[in-house]
Amino acid sequence: MPRSLLRGSSLRLEVAMRSSLEVLEPLQQSAIRAGLSTRRIGTTIHLFQEVDSTNDEAAALAGSGETDGAIVIAEAQRLGRGRIGRRWQSPKGLGLYLSVILRPTIPPHDAPVLTLMGAVAGTEAIERTTGLVTAIKWPNDLIVNGRKVGGMLGEMAVEGSRLLHVILGIGINVNQTEADFDGELRQTASSLRAEAGHPVDRTAIVRAFCESLDGWYERFLCDGPLPILEHARRRCLTLGRQVTARFGDQEISGLAVELDDDGRLVIRDAMGASHRLLAGDVTLTG
Ligand code: BTN
Repeated sequence: MPRSLLRGSSLRLEVAMRSSLEVLEPLQQSAIRAGLSTRRIGTTIHLFQEVDSTNDEAAALAGSGETDGAIVIAEAQRLGRGRIGRRWQSPKGLGLYLSVILRPTIPPHDAPVLTLMGAVAGTEAIERTTGLVTAIKWPNDLIVNGRKVGGMLGEMAVEGSRLLHVILGIGINVNQTEADFDGELRQTASSLRAEAGHPVDRTAIVRAFCESLDGWYERFLCDGPLPILEHARRRCLTLGRQVTARFGDQEISGLAVELDDDGRLVIRDAMGASHRLLAGDVTLTG
């Protein structure tokens, strides 16, 4: 091979290696802000090295009056949590652990759709950053190639019948390798790095998520939940599948036929009866 070509290809390799290493560096406020064009989401950023849970930090900040759209990000979480009391593994510098403070003027019973809104924004952010086709497994899982790469945790504070705020937490496994997942998670979870075959830039994901969420939130405030639901239906891999849903000590099996206008999953059982679920743990069985 001519020397100049050899030099050219080793230079390209060097550039590629350098950019791979750069994307594994810690997050920086200035880099997240650069080029972030949003009206609300991420206009205030709180970046921590380590917290118990970004949802807890965000709730505390919201309680002290922090604004609509402010975000909290941490490099690691000591007590990251998922739905139904599960733990969310949050190793330092590998994943995205982010919570958004939302203060819409809506009744508490209209708030659950905001978690679906976050899931829609999460799928869009992953696709835009990595090109990986991403689906939602109802109610809150972000799925790539059949494996869970992320999840949403929506938590609200209510006073009487008034919604004070919603904390929308998103966790994405970004640069974990298989060895970074504990126990049985190795069978079901994955990371963007594992699926894309290269390290992924967390800063780009943060920006893409904020921008996507900003657009959907604006739309929600203007037009209500239907545009979000329409979009969530298109991305929801649960629909049309046989499922078993568990909530508390109850269990329902049947065909997932619909996501209704309140974001509830409608399951038709073997007797033809319909069940509407607002929350639950769903396993795909067929
Ligand atoms: C799930 O899939 O059960 C939801 C996972 C949500 C994890 C995120 S990470 C940021 C935020 N802080 C937390 O403690 N949990 C959410």
